[in-house]
Amino acid sequence: MMTKVKKAIFPVAGLGTRFLPATKSIPKEIMTLVDRPLIQYTLDEARTSGIEEFIFVTSRGKGALEDYFDHSPILENHLREKGNPDLLSIVQETTLDSGTIAYVRQHYPKGLGHAIWCARHLIGDEPFAVILTDDVIISEEPVLGQMIAAYEHLGGAMVGLSRVSWDKVSNYGIVEPETSEGKVLRLKGMVEKPAREQAPSDLAIIGRYILTPRIFDVLAKTQPDTKGEIQITEAIASETSTSPGVFGFVFEGQRFDCGSKLGFLQAGISLALERPELKDNLQEFLKSLDLT
Ligand code: UTP
Repeated sequence: MMTKVKKAIFPVAGLGTRFLPATKSIPKEIMTLVDRPLIQYTLDEARTSGIEEFIFVTSRGKGALEDYFDHSPILENHLREKGNPDLLSIVQETTLDSGTIAYVRQHYPKGLGHAIWCARHLIGDEPFAVILTDDVIISEEPVLGQMIAAYEHLGGAMVGLSRVSWDKVSNYGIVEPETSEGKVLRLKGMVEKPAREQAPSDLAIIGRYILTPRIFDVLAKTQPDTKGEIQITEAIASETSTSPGVFGFVFEGQRFDCGSKLGFLQAGISLALERPELKDNLQEFLKSLDLT
């Protein structure tokens, strides 16, 4: 039986330049979809997938993120005194138990691979998940939970995969699968942001990973790319030749790239349309827009 995946790393140290000037003073992960910050969606996915320890790789200026998971005694007392139990429980659900949350700093934005490496001392000797908050996935069963279930049979490493249109392959890490059938695919290789002609498939790595601590040794030796960033894709690619290898999990569910303005707006509208208190009025508003 494989060791259970109980820890997750949330790399949130990026500068979020695509959302400037907002991200000059607000962490991207605190920006809201309807009334919940982006980080809440991925945290809930991790929690319902069985994750018990949450490790955030942060950077300067991410204080609002740390406060978000903390107790807020003044606010909680206020809601208690005003007899507002619904809001009180919404606020209380954002608090994580003492000792289950840890923060580690990435001093320079040296890439996603480097951010993950920064958490090495908090992982110890067990498999762990990595979740990118930019990727908000709406699915009946949490995608990470499905991946963990598959991982527990296979071992190795696993990446979340989704098909993207061929004109977008150069925005993603793209995998080379051994076979193209099924949900779980053994991978032969992967390449970060390939030109369309060089892309081995249209299967893109989306921000969900299950890795083992051996990746830290690989990351320590991985050279920065031309932008000075250490890429996780390159490190995982070198693991495809090892045993039991690297697997891709092709998930079902609607995924929004909330690291881009368009994806963020689409996610906000889609999630608002699922709220009974907003749906009718929002639909009416959308219909009233002259979209011709
Ligand atoms: P992105 O490539 O989206 O970079 O990072 P970014 O800084 O967040 O945003 P832009 O492109 O400047 O707008 C993907 C994920 O990796 C994390 C980010 O926080 C994000 O969750 N990351 C990236 C780090 O933690 N450290 C880094 O050095 C780079």
